[in-house]
Amino acid sequence: MATRHFLSLLDFSPTELQTVIQRAIELKKKPINQNFNGKVLSMVFEKASTRTRISFEAGMAQMGGSAIFLSPRDTQLGRGEPIEDSARVISSMTDIVMIRTFAHETIETFAEYSSVPVINALTDALHPCQLLADMQTFYEQRGSIQGKKVTWVGDGNNMCQSYINAAKQFDFELSIACPKGFEPDAAMLTANSDRVTVLDDPQTAVANADLVVTDVWASMGQEDQQGKRLSQFAPYQVNHKLMEAAAKNALFMHCLPAHRGEEVSAKLLEDSQYSVVWDEAENRLHAQKALMEFLLS
Ligand code: CP
Ligand code: NVA
Repeated sequence: MATRHFLSLLDFSPTELQTVIQRAIELKKKPINQNFNGKVLSMVFEKASTRTRISFEAGMAQMGGSAIFLSPRDTQLGRGEPIEDSARVISSMTDIVMIRTFAHETIETFAEYSSVPVINALTDALHPCQLLADMQTFYEQRGSIQGKKVTWVGDGNNMCQSYINAAKQFDFELSIACPKGFEPDAAMLTANSDRVTVLDDPQTAVANADLVVTDVWASMGQEDQQGKRLSQFAPYQVNHKLMEAAAKNALFMHCLPAHRGEEVSAKLLEDSQYSVVWDEAENRLHAQKALMEFLLS
């Protein structure tokens, strides 16, 4: 059987995604077991991380396996060893690999040459692991997201694009409010035009939204644009005024790290009436344990 990878939410069927999320909820209640006894995860990080690194590493430890942190600074990857060669070698010695990198093509090439499952732990295009945690969090707080409305406010980035895939796989409506010129990938929008709309006014976009989500205005690798983006994105801050224009009981999510006073007000981020960001962050641990269990079985 061909090796399964998780580079995008589209690599799993809607039923498989639901299975992973339900298993994550179960594992959350019973975090320690030996299901990964002797299994080793390789973690390739070409960008910084707090949540992703800790959740994968702690997840392996809690399930009886172990993890190796690989930074390009101290591996041959950073000295130009081809991805194809690295993939064959790393996958010959470890059971599962997660990669955080820049170009999405890098992880696709790695997966093509890997003999073991590869997990996308964030590329410039997608961040599917975060969506598993977000979907788990919504389910725990409000039940099924099917038929609900989600609004993305801000940059049409890797998180926004993952929400487009989630809208398809979890069957919800998605409205996106972003400044002109910062829309997500046009082909993704066209492919999902039955459920995804793009508007430039955040107040209009959040009407009847059950979930409002945002992320930083400049992602990793775009640090040089941070200053310019501050003024372009200023009308897109998610705050109490915007949440009040959404549905009653709407939730607020943010993958973190957050920039208080930019994409989200400090007050909203800390207001547990709306904000579930701390549960969302913790759920990275449970969701990825369930994901790895699925891929390793
Ligand atoms: N949300 C997320 O992926 O966080 P880190 O960059 O800290 O891993
Ligand atoms: N869009 C952000 C997400 C960080 C978890 C970035 O890519 O930097």
